Amino acid sequence: MLTAEENETLTRTGPDTPMGRMMRRFWLPVASAHQVAAPDGAPLRTQLLGEHLVVFRDTDGNLGVLDEFCVHRRASLALGRNEEGGLRCLLHGWKFTCDGTIVETPNHKSANVREKIKQPSYPVIEAGGMIWTYIGDPAQQPPFQKYGWFDAPSENYVVLRINNPANYLQLYEGGVDSAHVGILHMNMMNPGWKDSAFVDGKTNQDGGKGWGGEAGDYGEDGKAGMYMSSTVFEETPDLGIEDTAYGFQYAALRDTGQDENGDPAWSVRITPVMFPAGRIIPANAFQFYVFEIPMTDEMTATYLVFHGSGPQDRDVIIDTMGLADLRFWTYEGCDFQASWNDRLGQDRDSMDRNWSGFAGIEQEDSVIAMSMTPIVDRTKEYLVPSDEAVIRLRRRLLDSVALNEAGGNPLGLTVEDYSNVVAVPDTVIPKSADWTDLARGNSETGRTVRGEAAE
Ligand code: FES
Ligand SMILES: [Fe+2]
Repeated sequence: MLTAEENETLTRTGPDTPMGRMMRRFWLPVASAHQVAAPDGAPLRTQLLGEHLVVFRDTDGNLGVLDEFCVHRRASLALGRNEEGGLRCLLHGWKFTCDGTIVETPNHKSANVREKIKQPSYPVIEAGGMIWTYIGDPAQQPPFQKYGWFDAPSENYVVLRINNPANYLQLYEGGVDSAHVGILHMNMMNPGWKDSAFVDGKTNQDGGKGWGGEAGDYGEDGKAGMYMSSTVFEETPDLGIEDTAYGFQYAALRDTGQDENGDPAWSVRITPVMFPAGRIIPANAFQFYVFEIPMTDEMTATYLVFHGSGPQDRDVIIDTMGLADLRFWTYEGCDFQASWNDRLGQDRDSMDRNWSGFAGIEQEDSVIAMSMTPIVDRTKEYLVPSDEAVIRLRRRLLDSVALNEAGGNPLGLTVEDYSNVVAVPDTVIPKSADWTDLARGNSETGRTVRGEAAE
């Protein structure tokens, strides 16, 4: 449970809020590259931390991120003509280059306006199939942070964007809530289903949501084993949590009896959480990155990145995530659309064999976040021990906000390379071993090494 004030601090991300100021210290994703793939294509109208932006690719392939509303009289540049090296406002034809320079003002012959003002613009970098921008104070612009999939061949990763109508924090909390995975996303809670739930390493109850199987085994229909193995079905794992320089990492620790030496053992799944908005979900077939980026306080751009060791099949991933139903989401459109008019699309008739009545994990996560109201009232919760990672997420975010408000660097800002931060899918180790040894890079990334200058 939080105080009303803490809940406000955590969930409000506009320019005059503590969280908004903290998040503005970072480069953040503003689009998936496929949304503005073509030179001179349609500009993308989007939002980031409450700011209205337009993203476009000019004739030469350069990217621009501009304020959406024309500096002249505020028409939306998302309607503009994108041609001949710039974006032209429809209303009076003012033309802007990628950095906001005004090159034509048809209704004003003198050059004085062109020389004096610009359309507000932001720096932009395309990396890893995503378009990143920095909307904070130019004097504080940090180095661009590198993630593990940036250097991979583009066919080895898939990027999906889902605009979810809910505050970023309830989606982020879902991402660190290990206990829900074996409940919401499974068919294991009905006692009558439990014993019969597996056939050939995948569930037989859900039309193949992609659970079960061995690492790298996609199964006959290409789905089984992509995500995680059966150890996830213990709903009350012990949690190990370690604070890191960039946030924290946690391990879900599930009893597996004894290992081959007869020592007590458990299966470990490690999730690193990289502030202000990222995490990596343990999955067998890939490193599965998720970023929960506030568009507004009530709308979140969720970016999913599936990075495997070989070529990835986007359609299989979309299907497995429960996103293949075009009524709810399309790859091109990105908006998650569900309405209480039909109970957010829940199929009650399927619930004699499907726990949730929804098609798969991303659809389930989206509707649950929506169902909580746009911004959860966290003064009314009743938390239990398995919510410990959720509590840590909030505490560390508040720590990071406090550091920034005091004039310091928020958590994670000085990390330049996240390549050594990884999720660890189910791995059995003796209980006497230290789970943090499974991914030393998670503990060490961003740490100041003794002898180096303090950050
Ligand atoms: S409003 Fe854009 S040119 Fe006039
Ligand atoms: Fe989930």
